[in-house]
Amino acid sequence: MNENETGSGDVVAKPAFHRRGVGGVVDWRLIDVDNSVERDPRQALSRASLALPRDHVRTVSKRTTTAAGMAAPTAAPGPPRSAAVSYLRIKSDLHQQLLTDLDRRNLINAGEEQLAEVVEDFVDQALQLQELPLNDNERRQLVDDLLEETLGVGPLAPLLADPAVTDVLVNGPYRVYIERFGHLEKTDVRFRDTEHLVRIIQRIAARVGRRIDEASPMVDARLPDGSRVNATLPPVTIDGPTLSIRRFGRRRLRREELMNLGMFSAAMRDFLEAVVRGRKNLLISGGTGSGKSTFLGAAAEAVPDRERIVTIEDAAELILDQQHLVRMETRPPNVEGLGRITARDLVINALRMRPDRIIVGEVRGGEALDMLQAMNTGHDGSLTTIHANSPRDALARLETMVLMAGLELPSRAIREQIVSAIPLIVHVRRYEDGVRRVQTIAEITGMEGDTPQLQDVFVFRPQAGSGKRLVGSFVPTGVVPRVVEQLRAENHLVPLHLFQPGA
Ligand SMILES: Nc1ncnc2c1ncn2[C@@H]1O[C@H](COP(=O)(O)OP(=O)(O)O)[C@@H](O)[C@H]1O
Ligand SMILES: [Mg+2]
Repeated sequence: MNENETGSGDVVAKPAFHRRGVGGVVDWRLIDVDNSVERDPRQALSRASLALPRDHVRTVSKRTTTAAGMAAPTAAPGPPRSAAVSYLRIKSDLHQQLLTDLDRRNLINAGEEQLAEVVEDFVDQALQLQELPLNDNERRQLVDDLLEETLGVGPLAPLLADPAVTDVLVNGPYRVYIERFGHLEKTDVRFRDTEHLVRIIQRIAARVGRRIDEASPMVDARLPDGSRVNATLPPVTIDGPTLSIRRFGRRRLRREELMNLGMFSAAMRDFLEAVVRGRKNLLISGGTGSGKSTFLGAAAEAVPDRERIVTIEDAAELILDQQHLVRMETRPPNVEGLGRITARDLVINALRMRPDRIIVGEVRGGEALDMLQAMNTGHDGSLTTIHANSPRDALARLETMVLMAGLELPSRAIREQIVSAIPLIVHVRRYEDGVRRVQTIAEITGMEGDTPQLQDVFVFRPQAGSGKRLVGSFVPTGVVPRVVEQLRAENHLVPLHLFQPGA
């Protein structure tokens, strides 16, 4: 112990201003006051919970000669508890104090190395306290657990350790779901409380240089490992904070595999392959989690390798095989509200990059206009997805998005642009049995009056009265879409029997 190193180092105990225990446990704390920081009495007051009885003064190691508080719970008076419960309780109390401490010292955003050191110090000190009713094993466990909880994703760690888990969805502190093998399951994982969940969310956001708080209660980001994270806080989510982690490294589902999973038929695959190869634009619509992005990736497999592809996403998740690939990502405004880069900016920039294909992960706003213009002026073969409940809904939403570009275009003009740019809409849906299927491939045939006309080319027909797993089939309606004629004229092979019902 050498607190004179910093020239401050008085190790003092302060009288308790109040007790702020967790779950009724009386807090007492050991303070190592750094004089240079700790002169302001208000600071001392604001750290009132650091108070401890004078007879509990202990020296602390030199490494922690910062203005940091330290705490350890004593066993609460009352009936004896089982060892496991007692361990959990101690861990939970310590964790809470550690987090409070990190927060106060503004270390929530600190780098991992620095944090690891702080956590180790904290645990070191906690362990020096004789009152902790823990055996050696539990003590070691405590270090590991606190490190994991503080540095990592807390209670979510075991879920993310399972490679089969593709999505983790947290709705408030007590409802945590995972998706495995295409199915949603509720898990036993729980956060201690809302506060705990919020801290984990803030840590995850901070790790990628983002911030989430009451003033900006939503964050959408890509983690260093490529996973995609979205988090929201109340008031935007009424019933508590949410966190959605869509994992990268989740196995990429390829075209053949998707077909084997029953997402579409071989005829649909062959048709769409010709459409993509033949540079026809494709709009993929569906609800959240319906498989749009997955389908987009599968469709993009058909893009010939020699072509130059520019992808534009809010958080890059597409994985493509092609070599000649430029990936772009939008950027939200920084804390000062500056530096925002929209999908629209990127589409405009992408057009100057001599792309053969522009793939927009999902159109959400004004970039729809630029995409349509690009599609209509020689940048054929573009692919994108749109959040919509049906192909007709997709058209309506696309029109609204074009208006978001801020040009006062008449409806009719917009619809004409859409109709001339997009020959086909693929609508995907997650059915009640959890299987994602292409519900329909619809052709946009033209305008009648002011209304774009749609016509199904392939549809999924469930059989009536089928059991838990829907039984049904993908059937061609008999319509041969007009792109086929163009494709054949351009020497792309599209056998007509694909469109024959009952063939
Ligand atoms: N046909 C499928 N079978 C099984 N899982 C699928 C299928 N299509 C997509 N998934 C999985 O469903 C989740 C959501 O898919 P995604 O393509 O991201 O949806 P969207 O882009 O519509 O929100 C992902 O975990 C993805 O791996
Ligand atoms: Mg998506």
